[in-house]
Amino acid sequence: MDFSNITIEELKAQVNLEKLPRHVAIIMDGNGRWAKQHGKARVFGHKNGVTSVREVTEGAAELGIEYLTLYAFSTENWKRPATEVEALMLLLVQTLGREVATLNKNNIRLQAIGDISKLPPRTKKALLKGIEDTKHNDRMTLVLALNYSGKWEILEAAKKLSEEVEKGNLKTEDINDELFSNALSTQGIPDPELLIRTSGETRLSNFLLWQLAYAEFYFTPVFWPDFRKKHFVQAIIDYQQRERRFGKISEQVSK
Ligand code: IPE
Ligand code: IPE
Ligand code: MG
Repeated sequence: MDFSNITIEELKAQVNLEKLPRHVAIIMDGNGRWAKQHGKARVFGHKNGVTSVREVTEGAAELGIEYLTLYAFSTENWKRPATEVEALMLLLVQTLGREVATLNKNNIRLQAIGDISKLPPRTKKALLKGIEDTKHNDRMTLVLALNYSGKWEILEAAKKLSEEVEKGNLKTEDINDELFSNALSTQGIPDPELLIRTSGETRLSNFLLWQLAYAEFYFTPVFWPDFRKKHFVQAIIDYQQRERRFGKISEQVSK
């Protein structure tokens, strides 16, 4: 579908509010390439990506999405040049400091997944403050994946459960899908029905490996700093046109 001349209101009118995903996850990618395109340093791309975070968070809340998870920093991202890592960690401190008021105004709760203990103290502090200051909000939950790795999270869950087995609190044969899900950092959060990745890359990069088992994937060539509410709504419309079969055949799922 060509959405180029359509307004955000017209787009939103196409969304079926009865068929909204409860949880949307996004791999925000392409900041570096966007900056390069503009003849600027990579950090310029990260800074401009904050506008997209604001837009998409607002857009998701306006539609009535319950959970939005944003991949902000992977465990692998520590391998980037130290200056970029430092700039990203500082940007997080600044953004969290500035945006918590907006989250409160919009009744949005902040949460985080990933190994938070390894974040620089200032970043960790700003994050924990943001989580604490927004904990009573109930319109939407914004989950930031920080120092996150899907494999790490699965290993942590396996360790946690095996400790319980060792202590005699749990039997190996009782470990099932539900129990395992509850040992992950996304415990209590429904699995995302939709995954969006920007910038044209078509890989998972260690994101929510367990939780995305049955998600619909939406890839767009748009670089993250150019991603707007309109693009988000387009992804939702695209998702709603798909048939989710969960192993069954079409006739079994279409009503
Ligand atoms: C995504 O943009 C932001 C983070 C990973 C923190 P990139 O920084 O990966 O941008 P590209 O992929 O190099 O263009
Ligand atoms: C994935 O993007 C991580 C985040 C968006 C935070 P990357 O740009 O780091 O992924 P790869 O390395 O290209 O797979
Ligand atoms: Mg990238």
